[in-house]
Amino acid sequence: MKTLIAYSTTLGCTEQCASRLKEDLGEGVDMYRISRRRKINFELYDTVIIGGSIHEGMIQRAVRKFCEENLKDLLKKEIGLFICCVDPGENEDELLKSVYPDELLSHALAKSYFGGELNFKKMNLMQKIMTRKKERLEVMPEIDFDSILSFAEQLQQKNA
Ligand SMILES: Cc1cc2nc3c(=O)[nH]c(=O)nc-3n(C[C@H](O)[C@H](O)[C@H](O)COP(=O)(O)O)c2cc1C
Repeated sequence: MKTLIAYSTTLGCTEQCASRLKEDLGEGVDMYRISRRRKINFELYDTVIIGGSIHEGMIQRAVRKFCEENLKDLLKKEIGLFICCVDPGENEDELLKSVYPDELLSHALAKSYFGGELNFKKMNLMQKIMTRKKERLEVMPEIDFDSILSFAEQLQQKNA
């Protein structure tokens, strides 16, 4: 059986993390950018990983909808959940709790924060202004590739 990585990305960082995760997991992994137009055949997968990024304190609406609308199917699968952002605050678990449904969180085999990037080249003017205003530039954000690898290992061990 296969693994699906369902993700949403605004500026490309979550997609990059999803690709790295796909590499770390090895064979039998499909990536799916969450979209209303293309529906997923959950029958094909025994593991579903969901990821999105935080903008103004919230995960993409598409990710929330995907979790809500497919909750019944998702609860029958092995689940992994991750987020990308630059400032998760003191407690990354609290941030995960604030963006994913409780039922899915307690069902998940792996939950993680993968870091983030500020991709100024892809930002529009409003996004640049909003990012600067929040003084996020004091820390140089980066993707945490170690965290992606240990997430993959966690899922593989629990699935073994
Ligand atoms: C307009 C804007 C708002 C953001 N708001 C937050 C935020 O509230 N908290 C945070 O930690 N990071 C925030 N970020 C940083 C993003 O989460 C980070 O750039 C992430 O890597 C983006 O992933 P993506 O390219 O997949 O969308 C924000 C970025 C932008 C451009």
